[in-house]
Amino acid sequence: MHDHLTLLRPDDWHLHLRDGEALRAVLPHTARQFARAVVMPNLKPPVTTTALAAEYRQRILAARPAGSDFEPLMTLYLTDRTSPEEIDRACDSGFVIGCKLYPAGATTHSDAGVTDISRIDAVLARMAERNLPLQIHGEVTADEIDVFDREREFIERTLRPLAARHAGLRVIFEHITTAAAVEFVQSAREGIAATITPQHLLYNRNEMFRGGIRPHFYCLPVLKTEPDRQALLEAATSGHRRFFLGTDSAPHERHTKEAACGCAGIYSAHAALELYAEAFERMGRLDRLEAFASLNGPDFYRLPRNTTTVTLRRTNWQVPQAYAFGSGTVVPMRAGETLSWQLVES
Ligand code: NCD
Ligand code: ZN
Repeated sequence: MHDHLTLLRPDDWHLHLRDGEALRAVLPHTARQFARAVVMPNLKPPVTTTALAAEYRQRILAARPAGSDFEPLMTLYLTDRTSPEEIDRACDSGFVIGCKLYPAGATTHSDAGVTDISRIDAVLARMAERNLPLQIHGEVTADEIDVFDREREFIERTLRPLAARHAGLRVIFEHITTAAAVEFVQSAREGIAATITPQHLLYNRNEMFRGGIRPHFYCLPVLKTEPDRQALLEAATSGHRRFFLGTDSAPHERHTKEAACGCAGIYSAHAALELYAEAFERMGRLDRLEAFASLNGPDFYRLPRNTTTVTLRRTNWQVPQAYAFGSGTVVPMRAGETLSWQLVES
């Protein structure tokens, strides 16, 4: 049994950093583990232009802890009104790494998202031409579709046709949650990849109802069945280059989750790598963690791999009940529980 695990420094390919005081509260958790992170644009109002992304990037850089060289990789939020010229500006900026497709109404702060994929056809064509990746929240929003079937439906209704129509477009199917998504990604054409969160590797949907309703396990896409979780574990720990780390760490103030209508989002940035290590260890595949966390992501995005390392040590530590967050607190994943791996401070 190994006591230490050293890997090339990982990156987080899907992260919510928020803004203002909240940003200052959560960024140190990410910056101590990850060299880079793909920063989601679902602020209020959303980051829809390269100019807004430039300003947001400056606020993130200014919020970094002293001495940190963490690099935010910015994304633009696609709307029905995004223009192909905006794609050119994004590509020329050097700091926008992709554009995010939120089907309107699919998740937190997605009301300005795309109402019909055909409306952004010219934008997707320009992205393919300029080689700018598309990040997708892959869920249909139709009322008649069961919330647990929304990802699977999205594959057939939107993703498969989109991947065929824009054959040169690189697509990241984000935070996949189902066996159907794993199967799609494995058998899709070149240029399709997926990120997987720690919560979807560690929990099935029972966790939301264990002994009562547990709002801190509610995220979107929602947790799925045990067979889905097993398929995700197999994919993540297979070493397959199309699957890589994206925490989807999504902090919300405690009172907005512990409410009659609670927000979607799980906060995992405080212990992201430790949580993934636990999942990989249970599969007996700790040796594949580096590919998932540190190699497959940069290779897909065509960015250099990091050159420094991080080390995890086997030791028990207790996750705090809450962390300061803006004017309140955020309840982290595994609050009050014991984790068996810990990042060694460098
Ligand atoms: C995210 C958030 O809170 O911004 N919530 C979530 O449950 N994952 C939005 C998202 O990524 O869907
Ligand atoms: Zn997200």
